[in-house]
Order: sequence, then C-alpha cells, then structure tokens
Amino acid sequence: MAMSTRCSGEENEAERCRKLVKESNELTAKMLLAHMFGPFKRVGYFLLRRQAKEVPARCDELFETILLEHEQRSASAAANKSTGTTSDAIVWTMAELLNHPTIFKRARQEIRDLIIGSGNNNRLVEETDIPNLHYLQAVVKEALRLHPPVIAAPRVCREACRVGGFDIPKGVAVALNVYSIARDPEVWANPDEFSPERFLQGKVEKGFQANGFAAFGGGRRMCPGSNLAFTVICYAVAAMVQCFDWKVADGEDGVRMEASLGMTMSLAKPLVCIPQLQVCFDQSQMEVSSL
Ligand code: HEM
Repeated sequence: MAMSTRCSGEENEAERCRKLVKESNELTAKMLLAHMFGPFKRVGYFLLRRQAKEVPARCDELFETILLEHEQRSASAAANKSTGTTSDAIVWTMAELLNHPTIFKRARQEIRDLIIGSGNNNRLVEETDIPNLHYLQAVVKEALRLHPPVIAAPRVCREACRVGGFDIPKGVAVALNVYSIARDPEVWANPDEFSPERFLQGKVEKGFQANGFAAFGGGRRMCPGSNLAFTVICYAVAAMVQCFDWKVADGEDGVRMEASLGMTMSLAKPLVCIPQLQVCFDQSQMEVSSL
C-alpha cells in the first residue's frame, strides 16, 4: 500500500516480496542482538556478513524494479518498512476479531449506526468516519497493545544513568521492551485479555503516549507514522468488518494466536479466512440481536 503498487500472482511475486520482508526483518533483529554483545559484536557481524550483503542486494533489486515501474507511470515512490508493521497490525486485529464474535458484532453495529445516522444507509465506511468510530479505534488500540508489531524500541544512553535500580553506562545500547510494557499487570487489569473497552474509559484512551501504551514507542523518537498507520489500520479493518462475514479457513477453533519473531512480530501461521459478502445494507437487516 505504501508503495502504491500491487503484487500480482505472476511468478509468485507476492510471495517473493513477503519472503524478502521477513528475511530482512530477521536479519535486522540478529544484527541488533549482535550489536548488544559489546566487544563480541564483531563476531556476530562476521557470522552474519554473507546475509548482510545478500538481503540488501535483493531488496535493492526489488525496489529498483518497483521504482522503475513508478517512474514509467510518473508517480512518486516511498518504500520503507512501514508496510510490514501496518499489515501485521491489520492481521492481528482481524485475528482477534475473528476469535471474539461479540466484539466483531459490536464494531459492525457501531459502523452501521454511524452510516444510518449519516442518512445514506447503503454507503461504504469512509476514512473520514474513523474519528467517530470510537469502539473500532479501541479495538485497534487493544490489538496493538497485545500484539505490537515492533516489540522493542532501541536507544543508546548519551550519559550514564540509573533506571529501575540498574546502572547503565554511557554509550550502552538498550532496548525498551514494548511487548512487556503493554502486558504489565501493574498497569493493565487482566493484561492478557482482549478487552477494547479498557480504551473507552480512563486515561489510556487519550492518546498513544499514554502510560503503558508503547506500540509506537515514546518520547521524541516516537514513530512519526503513528497517525497515518492508525488511520490505515482502522480504515482497512472497518471496511472488512462492514462488508464481510469471515470464517477461519482451517478449523473451528478460531485463529491460533502464536507469533513469529523477527524485527516485527507477525502471526506465526498466515491468516487464511473466507469472506462472505454482506450485500444487504438495508436498515431492516442491520439489527444485531445478540448485542
Ligand atoms: C502499525 C504500524 C507501525 C508501528 C507499530 C510502528 C512502530 C514504531 C516504533 C515502536 C518505532 C520506534 C519508536 C521509538 O523508538 O520510540 C517506530 C519508528 C519509526 N517509524 Fe513506525 N510504526 C508503524 C508504522 C509506521 C509508518 C506507517 C511509518 C511511515 C509512514 C513509520 C515510520 C517510522 C519512522 C521513520 C521511525 C523512526 C523514527 C525515529 O527514529 O526518530 N512507522 N515505529
């Protein structure tokens, strides 16, 4: 989406692109880990040297192809890792919604109420609706809290300091554990539970820098793409909730929420589900009785 391009099924392009993003994330994670081994980091770099040459070269090759296509269409291009994090977040949010049908129905009802209120029962949800879809926003925030695509925010200490009883010397690389902060039982009630309602009450609903919500990092180096990413995730999820019923493709047990770890945290098994189009936007069909 960020590259305004599309991967066709030809020559398995989409798969090649996905594999490259995954490999590149894994390599970045390994390099970061190697960097933290202080004087031994050179050993880590040495072991990773082949991958470190090969993966960027293949990325360059892929980006070159995409940029060339864009030049031909006189369009500008922006290629970065933001696509992976945003698509991961969409997948995690949909996975949680599929595992929580009542929450799915409530999110759909909110969209339908808004659309009926707008006087046009048959229109699709629009990006400008997002600020008024408070429950949907809470759903996305809760999915980002439980499954932050970026699980650690790296920093280097500019001066020696003491944090939580630990002395950290100047120049040491540290990583803020975004994943653990978001599941800290001292901050969150029932931290492992998917409960969007928590973002409808109290101080955590006020913004991304709220205490304990660190999916976009924090402070001056906080993710500058947070508002864009949040809007894109909400819009994509809203459209999928409004337009389709979903069935998990393999099995009745719902989506297995195991994660695979690279530089971003993705669902371990690709989310395969079957959409069933909701064509009836007529008001009489919009009641959701189980709410
Ligand atoms: C769900 C989607 C995304 C998540 C979870 C995410 C998360 C993060 C996190 C945790 C950081 C580190 C912040 C810190 O160190 O405190 C970061 C940095 C960054 N993000 Fe995102 N991001 C997302 C999407 C995007 C998008 C869409 C863009 C650009 C359009 C973007 C651009 C950046 C940039 C440029 C940085 C580096 C900022 C700096 O070092 O000063 N991100 N992101």
